[in-house]
Amino acid sequence: MKVGICADAAGLARAVAERFVALAGEAVAARGRFVVALAGGRTPRAAYALLATDPFASRVDWARVHVFWGDERCVPPDHPESNYRMARETLLDQVPIPPARVHPIQGDLPPARAAVAYEEELGAVLGPEGRFDLVLLGMGSDGHTASLFPGTPALEERDRAVVAVYVERLRAWRVTLTLPTINAARHILFVVSGAEKARALARVRAGEPLPAGRVRPAGGGPTWLVDRAAAEGTA
Ligand code: 6PG
Repeated sequence: MKVGICADAAGLARAVAERFVALAGEAVAARGRFVVALAGGRTPRAAYALLATDPFASRVDWARVHVFWGDERCVPPDHPESNYRMARETLLDQVPIPPARVHPIQGDLPPARAAVAYEEELGAVLGPEGRFDLVLLGMGSDGHTASLFPGTPALEERDRAVVAVYVERLRAWRVTLTLPTINAARHILFVVSGAEKARALARVRAGEPLPAGRVRPAGGGPTWLVDRAAAEGTA
């Protein structure tokens, strides 16, 4: 488990932006495109905002990038809770990515239909191999990642690439990539910030099978980029 510790949230955002640019360049050079699944929540906002500015934005060949999401809340695309809205506002509206290469989960559809539609769109782009070049992930203080929450059936899904899941604790529906799809990615990057994540991070580092700890790509990794507060539990 590779863990990079950054001094603070700003340093973390810079490290994530640098890694994104590097992996995008590698993928485009090797395969002519970069297929990435973005994380939702609050943590990645700063990294996305940085990616939308120079020197980062001009180092990415946005015309060759396909953007997906690791998960979505089942809300309309303009809802304050929408992961699509967050990424659109912080990044996608600021860079020249063709709209046809932005693939949101349709949060305003019934959850099961949204999952099927997204799985079809994912398959059409990724093809039978089904491998993202990069999956960005966050982690909740309970160790969940994407919308794979402890004790939910979505965690045990082995056949579907995408499922809808009702999260009792949130009393809300989510649509999420499943572990097989996440673990097939060429690169997986966790981005974790804040003292409130320190306990879950320590449990994952100790080998506990929390959802985030079950992200184990065949090719090795994932890489964790965390700030000192998350690494040491100190604010
Ligand atoms: C979501 C995310 C989720 C998130 C963690 C951490 O839709 O909420 O995909 O997995 O990454 O909950 O969220 P924060 O970054 O807001 O702490």
